[in-house]
Amino acid sequence: MEREMVLILDFGGQYNQLIARRVRDLNVYCEVHPYTMGLDKIREMNPKGIIFTGGPNSVYEEKSPSISEEIYDMGIPILGICYGAQLMSYTLGGSVKAATTREYGKVKLHVEEDSPIFEDVKEKSITWMSHTDYVEKLAEGFHVTATTESCPTAAFENSEKNLYGVQFHPEVQHSEEGNKVLGNFLFNVAGCSGDWKMDEFVENSIAAIKEKVGDKKVLCALSGGVDSSVAAVMIEKAVGKQLTCIFVDHGLLRKDEGDQVEEVFTNNYNLNFIRVNAQQRFYDKLKGVSDPETKRKIIGEEFIRVFEEEAKKIGTVDYLVQGTIYPDIIESGVGDSAVIKSHHNVGGLPDYVDFKEIIEPLRDLFKDEVRRAGLELGLPKDLVFRQPFPGPGLAIRIIGEVSEEKVKILQEADHVFRREIKMVGMDMELNQYFAVLTNLRSVGVMGDGRTYDYTLALRAVKTTDFMTAEFAQIPWSILGDISTKIVNEVPHINRIVYDITNKPPATIEWE
Ligand code: XMP
Repeated sequence: MEREMVLILDFGGQYNQLIARRVRDLNVYCEVHPYTMGLDKIREMNPKGIIFTGGPNSVYEEKSPSISEEIYDMGIPILGICYGAQLMSYTLGGSVKAATTREYGKVKLHVEEDSPIFEDVKEKSITWMSHTDYVEKLAEGFHVTATTESCPTAAFENSEKNLYGVQFHPEVQHSEEGNKVLGNFLFNVAGCSGDWKMDEFVENSIAAIKEKVGDKKVLCALSGGVDSSVAAVMIEKAVGKQLTCIFVDHGLLRKDEGDQVEEVFTNNYNLNFIRVNAQQRFYDKLKGVSDPETKRKIIGEEFIRVFEEEAKKIGTVDYLVQGTIYPDIIESGVGDSAVIKSHHNVGGLPDYVDFKEIIEPLRDLFKDEVRRAGLELGLPKDLVFRQPFPGPGLAIRIIGEVSEEKVKILQEADHVFRREIKMVGMDMELNQYFAVLTNLRSVGVMGDGRTYDYTLALRAVKTTDFMTAEFAQIPWSILGDISTKIVNEVPHINRIVYDITNKPPATIEWE
């Protein structure tokens, strides 16, 4: 049976991935594609419904994104959000105008008329708005179903043709009834059944991998992070010992992490696990290097080299596993953004390893779905909810030159920070938190003696997508306790500072 799917056409809106995540949370599989994808391809995909995202443009500008009018006659239900709603009206003969003031933030929505998308939705609710343009005159066959104080066309529809437009953003958390509106579109209008379930996904994937791989050999670069671990275990469930995992310990992991990864994979799973203790190689290469980008490059290259040497010992493999996840491959409707940091993932491997084909068992999943799949597969909770950890590891949390001694200091300090955050029960509410060893030393006093030691910075952020983030407002009393504990327990640190910058302008990592 074919899996039902909904297509999200991206017009450059900042919430495109959020829409997709909400739809998936409602158990409907969906994909995000650029608005330029072409009608033939859309027909081929055979979506149950289409959602147009918002976007930064004005429909009446010459070069703004648009789509052929034919799409409205394909018999596929469409929900336009913000720019998407304006585009639908404009293309079908309505008019769109710039308002004198921008409507931004939380706004009260009044549902004026019955509509399939407002079933069980409160007559008055808060919604999230972010627009200057609005639909001044509706296209023929449409009527208004909701308004706000300054937007007379906050929602409109042509229910005969199954076309719906909302000026507000149902996908944003601040829209109280947003999930209901999206669900109503999916189930009442598009007729979805909600067949996207993680247990079935895992079961089907294992069966598909088994069939594809047959009796061939599979190789996986295991980092100990969530994605590669879940991918590896899924393959193990399918083909067991035909899988070999290579885990390169570059000596820049968090305290005890290398041992933990080894323990989980050797004790619980029936696969070939190879740990390469390459710590010294990495420390040697990093000696005397303090530029962040150079450090990243050295680690990335050395990683490939170590992996390659190890893979050569195994010989030709048939398949190479990659932990690619859906956000890595979403093609955006707008241009690529500037590279701020060169990220190191295992994405660079295929050129260097002798294999026939790549398997990417997680390429359809968002991060939260990967975690759910991990739980279905029985991976330990600690591993499944592990916070993101950069490929170059602690090297980019040690400002300036890296040395084994500095790694040890940082591992201890970071361990105390994380232990204490967990103890006060804040670990699940912070999205990322870690310590940074600055290269600043200052004078302190301990007992009767003078010290001249390092300043440690603590960083903790709240974020949904890691593209933007807010520093976490950890209570002073907790920070104070943590500071005391670190200074008491970790030699060579005599001063602690807390990073209170958001992203932007700062990044989450310090290098
Ligand atoms: P920044 O510092 O750019 O980080 O705000 C955003 C998120 O990305 C993580 N990060 C990396 N992840 N390889 C990775 O796989 C890398 O090289 C890398 N650098 C940063 C960072 O921890 C944060 O979650």
